[in-house]
Parts: sequence; structure tokens; C-alpha cells
Amino acid sequence: MKVVNLSINADTCIKCGKCVKVCPSKIILQRSKDVPASVESPKGCISCGHCVAVCPTGSVLHSQFPADKVHPIDYTLYPSAEQMMLLCKARRSNRAFSTKPIPADTLDVILEAAHRAPTASNQQQVEFTLITDSEMIRLIADFTIGVFRSAAKKLSNPLMKPVLKRMMPDAYRYLPVFGRLINEHQKGNDPILRKATAIILIHTPKTNRFGSEDANLAYQNGSLMAETLGVSQFYMGFVCSAIKQEKKGSLAKLLGIEGTIHAGMALGMPLFRYPNYIDRKEIVVKKM
Ligand SMILES: Cc1cc2nc3c(=O)[nH]c(=O)nc-3n(C[C@H](O)[C@H](O)[C@H](O)COP(=O)(O)O)c2cc1C
Repeated sequence: MKVVNLSINADTCIKCGKCVKVCPSKIILQRSKDVPASVESPKGCISCGHCVAVCPTGSVLHSQFPADKVHPIDYTLYPSAEQMMLLCKARRSNRAFSTKPIPADTLDVILEAAHRAPTASNQQQVEFTLITDSEMIRLIADFTIGVFRSAAKKLSNPLMKPVLKRMMPDAYRYLPVFGRLINEHQKGNDPILRKATAIILIHTPKTNRFGSEDANLAYQNGSLMAETLGVSQFYMGFVCSAIKQEKKGSLAKLLGIEGTIHAGMALGMPLFRYPNYIDRKEIVVKKM
């Protein structure tokens, strides 16, 4: 963990104790209400910036957060709960993409929203690969079909079937799906990426223990932003499952990605937007 410079300006500190309350590493202390807060030791600081963000007088001095990295929040600009709920209800995986490219600055906003998601221990190791090259997009679909084709071949092998069926009965549920996808692909359709014009792969270093969680939280931020910008997206589950099945990391290597790909978003401008949202199954909540 990088050791940071962290101190409290005792002259301007108003002794409110907020930085003490919010620090997850408990490295800021206030011995009594009438003394300013002080830093015990910056070791253990995860640079989450809560102390800087919460201070009403700019008295927390943190080497990672100089003044130009600290921005006031105008809470009146928040979407209302009603607007937020509408977004949650109306966001769909709209797979009917037009060939119109997504403007580059729109993609940047989606990436920025994804990048803003929380990460375990504030590690911020989530990285993104944005692909708009149609050949490379095709390559990802081809890789996925290739993995499914060899899985289907293995699962259908009469010699291996009895053993595999016992070892992984679940895999056989996917056999007809693999068949359908392979057929569609052979016909020149794109059942994997649906002719998406942009792909965002979300990855972390292999050593990141919460890589998948971090990447998927980033995904959701990005997908909600995409929806507000009128861009359609869907989760690249087939591709992610092919990456997991293949185990060798070939796709990552092919794309020059060093870490593990945990999530992927297929994006495109919608051919049309949906006039309705529909209800989900009944919510299941246990309240105690
Ligand atoms: C983990 C995960 C994997 C998914 N994989 C795919 C996929 O490979 N292809 C696809 O078209 N949709 C995929 N989806 C989209 C789901 O099918 C979709 O979210 C679900 O049907 C609900 O529809 P909605 O997103 O429009 O609300 C995936 C979604 C999730 C959460």
C-alpha cells in the first residue's frame, strides 16, 4: 500500500470530528471535542478520500487529493428517487442495434461512470478495454463460438458422455444452446454480440481478490449511464463464460490484456427504444 502524506491543518480545523467518523482505516483521531483532529499514522490509509471529501473547511491535507481533485457537490442536481427508479425499471438489454456508431465522447462518459464505481479496499484496479474496430469485435464472437464448438464436441462424444454427464450434469443443459449459437453463427448472424458497434471489456490484475465484484459493479454504473445517454447495451455473458471455460486466457492475450476479464458490455445505438417497461417477478425480501 502506498504511504501517503496526510495531515490536518489545526489552524482551520473546526473540530467537528467528521473525518474521524468516516475514516475506514481509523487513522484519524480526535482526543477530545475541543481539540483539532490529528493523524496518528498515514500507514494503512487506503486513499479513499472520505476525510478530504467530508471536511467542511478543507483542513484535511492529503497528498493524493490536492485542491484540483476536490469538487463541491450540489445535491439539488441529484436525480429524484422517482427518476432513479424509472431508470432502474426502464433499463433493458436492448439487443437491436443500428449500424450508427456511438459518438466517442458518449463512450467516454459511459467509461467514466463505470470507473466511478466502488472497489474493494479502494484498490481501483479495474481497467477497461474499449473496442470499436469491427474486425476485433468479430474476433471476440469467433473466439466464443470456437470455445462453445469444442465444448459441444466434447460433451457429445459418446465415449466421454457417461463420465461427463456424472461429473458436470449442468453442462448438458447448455448443449442445445451451444448448438443453436453455432448454427446461427454459421448462417452469418451474430448471436454472441448482435452486431454491437462497441465493446467494453472490464478487467483487473489476476491478483485482485475482488476483481469480479469490482468489475461487475463498474459494469452496472456504466450500463445505467448508457441508458441515460440513449445507448443500448447488454451483458456479454456468453463471452465471459467462454473466457472462463477456455482457461488459457487466449482472448486476453489476443487483445493484449494482462489481467483477468470479468465482465463485458456490448453496446450500440438502438434501432428503436421501448415504449413500455414490464414488471419483474415478485420481489423476495426477508425482513428481520
Ligand atoms: C450475468 C449476465 C449474463 C448475460 N449474458 C447475456 C448474453 O450473453 N447475451 C445476451 O443477449 N444477454 C445477456 N444477458 C442479459 C440478460 O439476458 C438480461 O439481463 C435479462 O434477460 C433481463 O433483461 P433486461 O436486462 O432487459 O432487464 C446477461 C445478463 C447477465 C446479468
